[in-house]
Amino acid sequence: MTSILEKRLSLHKDLAVQQQLNNALKSQITQLQTLANVGTTTYMVAHEINNLLTPLGSFAQLALKHPDDKALIEKALQKAVRNCEQASKIMESMLAVADGETQDKKSVPLMTLVQEVFACLCRDFAKDGITVNIEIAKDLNVWGVPVQIQQVLMNLILNARDAMLSHGGVLTIKAHDTDAAVQIEIADTGCGIDRADLEKIFEPFFTTKNDKNSPSRRSGAGLGLVFCKRIIDEHGGCISVESKPTEGTTFKVTLPKPS
Ligand SMILES: Nc1ncnc2c1ncn2[C@@H]1O[C@H](COP(=O)(O)OP(=O)(O)OP(=O)(O)O)[C@@H](O)[C@H]1O
Ligand SMILES: [Mg+2]
Repeated sequence: MTSILEKRLSLHKDLAVQQQLNNALKSQITQLQTLANVGTTTYMVAHEINNLLTPLGSFAQLALKHPDDKALIEKALQKAVRNCEQASKIMESMLAVADGETQDKKSVPLMTLVQEVFACLCRDFAKDGITVNIEIAKDLNVWGVPVQIQQVLMNLILNARDAMLSHGGVLTIKAHDTDAAVQIEIADTGCGIDRADLEKIFEPFFTTKNDKNSPSRRSGAGLGLVFCKRIIDEHGGCISVESKPTEGTTFKVTLPKPS
C-alpha cells in the first residue's frame, strides 16, 4: 500500500519537473520566435530600401557626370526626395509591425499606387525595349496598407523587368473588381520560369539571378517574392503564378475587400 502511494508521489514529482521543463522550453521558443521576427524584419527593411537606393544612386551618378544638364540634375534630385520619402514610409511601417502594432488599412486608388511605384524606379522601361501597358480604371480602389501594397507591386514589376532585360518585351498591369475582391495581374513576356523552379520561387533565398558569368544581370537575394507572399497573406489575399519558359509569366494578386 505504502509503496503504491510512494510511487504515485514520485510520479507527481516527475510530472511537476517535466511541466517546469516544458514551460521553460515554451518560453525559449517564444524568445526565438521574436528573434526570428526581428531577423525577417531586418532582411525586409534592407531588401526594400535597396530597391529604392539603387535607382537613387544611378541617377545621382548620371547627374554628376553631366553637371550642365539642368533637367537631369532636377530629375535626380526629385528621385532622391521621392525615394527617401518612400524609404522612410517603409521603415515606419516595418518598425510598427516589429512593435506588434496593427497597420491601418484603407481604401486607396490602385492607379495612384502603381504610378508612384513607377516614379521610384530606375530608368525608363522604354530604354530597355520594354513597353508598359497599364489597364486599371481610375476609380478602382484596393483595401490595404498602401506602402505594403506598393512593396508587392515594386517587387513584381522589378522581377518582370529583370525577366525582359535581355530582349525587351511587354509588361501589362491590369486589375478588375469582383464583389468580394480586387484581382491584379502583372504579366510579362520575358524568359519565363522553368517548371522545376516554379514551386521554389516563394521559398526564402531561391534565386536564379546569381549568374557570376553574366555580370550584366542583377544579382538577387531571393527574398522579393517571400515578402510579397507575406504581405498578401497578412491582407487575407492570395498570390499565384503562371509561367511558360521563353514566353512569359503572369502573377495574380487577389486582395479582398473589407467585410
Ligand atoms: N516575372 C518573372 N519572370 C521570370 N522569373 C521570375 C519572375 N519572377 C520571379 N522569377 C523567378 O523567381 C525567383 C525568385 O524571385 P524573387 O523576387 O523572390 O527573388 P530575386 O528577384 O531573385 O531577388 P530579390 O530578392 O532581389 O527580389 C527569381 O530569381 C526568378 O528565377
Ligand atoms: Mg525579385
